[in-house]
Amino acid sequence: MSETPSDKPLVASCEPTVLTLEPGIYWWCACGRSKEQPFCDGSHEITDIKPVKLRIADTREVALCNCKHSGGRPYCDGTHHTMKPVSSP
Ligand code: FES
Ligand code: FES
Repeated sequence: MSETPSDKPLVASCEPTVLTLEPGIYWWCACGRSKEQPFCDGSHEITDIKPVKLRIADTREVALCNCKHSGGRPYCDGTHHTMKPVSSP
């Protein structure tokens, strides 16, 4: 059982995921609990956190935040350099 408050995200990783996304709708995991990072797998249901909708219009490379504390979420803004990883419960 995690000691993390239900409104505070876990640090899934201290590195972003860089990948190429095709046009479409994606749901970025904001809670840090998904097993399918950086995307939501429904694990947030035990928290007060909701995933963030990401709409991609044209195929492009993105760096998605895995520390879950970016100021520009869902994108990495470098904040992960100040984070420490938190083990999954
Ligand atoms: Fe993290 Fe859905 S699993 S927001
Ligand atoms: Fe979160 Fe870079 S991975 S700010």
